[in-house]
Amino acid sequence: MKILASYSKVCSTLKDLSLYRELNNNLKNESILDFTSNNYLSLSTHPKVIQNAQDYGAKFGVGGKSSRLLQTEQSIYLNLEKKIARDKGTQAALLFNSGFQANVSVLEALLDKKTLGAKPLVFFDRANHASLYQGCLLAGAQILRYRHLDMDHLKSLLESYAHLDVPKFIITETVFGMDGDVVDLNLITELSKTHDAFLYVDEAHATGLFGKNGYGLSTDFHDGIHLSMGSFSKALGSSGGYVACAQPLKEYLINKCKGFIYSTAPSPLIIGACEAAWDLIPTLTAERIKIFKTADYLRKCLKELHLKTGNSTSQIIPIIIGDEDKVLSIQKRLKEKGIFISAIRPPTVPPKTARLRMNISNNHNLSHIDTFINELKACL
Ligand SMILES: Cc1ncc(COP(=O)(O)O)c(C=O)c1O
Repeated sequence: MKILASYSKVCSTLKDLSLYRELNNNLKNESILDFTSNNYLSLSTHPKVIQNAQDYGAKFGVGGKSSRLLQTEQSIYLNLEKKIARDKGTQAALLFNSGFQANVSVLEALLDKKTLGAKPLVFFDRANHASLYQGCLLAGAQILRYRHLDMDHLKSLLESYAHLDVPKFIITETVFGMDGDVVDLNLITELSKTHDAFLYVDEAHATGLFGKNGYGLSTDFHDGIHLSMGSFSKALGSSGGYVACAQPLKEYLINKCKGFIYSTAPSPLIIGACEAAWDLIPTLTAERIKIFKTADYLRKCLKELHLKTGNSTSQIIPIIIGDEDKVLSIQKRLKEKGIFISAIRPPTVPPKTARLRMNISNNHNLSHIDTFINELKACL
């Protein structure tokens, strides 16, 4: 069939360019060291998280049954939303089935031309996650991409469009998933205030590790951030997404956000896991300190090998190699030694910046890093 042949042709081209993606077999048993997981705090297997998931599943059933708007069971969702709002320092919060779903559908609703009375302008960090970009595209917003974390570039773009009387939005991650660097929230909140721009921050990789009690960097910035989004699928070890915002904004989303209205409520099993993980976050200071110490040590070792780690200061450390084939070959050789590490290629990252990405969790220690570095040296 001609249509099916078109899809196969795309895959062949990707193979020729070393950009083809495939699913790994489950090689867990062969793994000695795994640096691919976003389960930074190991909460995915924490006994309290598993127990609460089981308890909620037994009490409320495993399925979400219907959209939140149509169902009688609200307490488990409302309780978790109350806790998120309390700990993020916002009036309200709203849950979603995934972080991706939250970003795409919340942005589509917020950037709605009819609601705003004009087509909005979105100032967008070039390295932002695909879900943020998809949300802007779906809304048909005008997107102006500024250089990654370059606040001077953002400022100059905002100034050049200051004469346009249209709604303006700034969208950024706080801890960047592919680079491990961190936005300067002091500067970006100042810019959003000066230009009366709505500031949307994605805390997917910050939640659990950064900010007051580990609840994300936006917790330290009550003033100036209009909505902060987060995911339960990374440090919280489960799945799902949330947004924390003002109450009127939550009410607007309940009425207008299609990813909330037309999707079955999250499974109670997942809500049980998410709530237990959320409650554990403030108790994990020692784990956070260990993660950042291990990450510092890894960065130091990589610098000694003259490898580029960009401006990473978090648990995420890119080893920027550039060439796709080289990245794949290092990844393959490390895998043969039982060391698992992610290969990230365009279009996920810009051309010529293909990289290996290391995610540090509380299960890693300095001797794991020494083992990795010794094996890496042999592959370079
Ligand atoms: C920055 C960022 N935002 C959003 C998401 C999507 O979150 P989820 O995995 O919960 O769908 C991800 C996941 O990779 C991410 O890295």
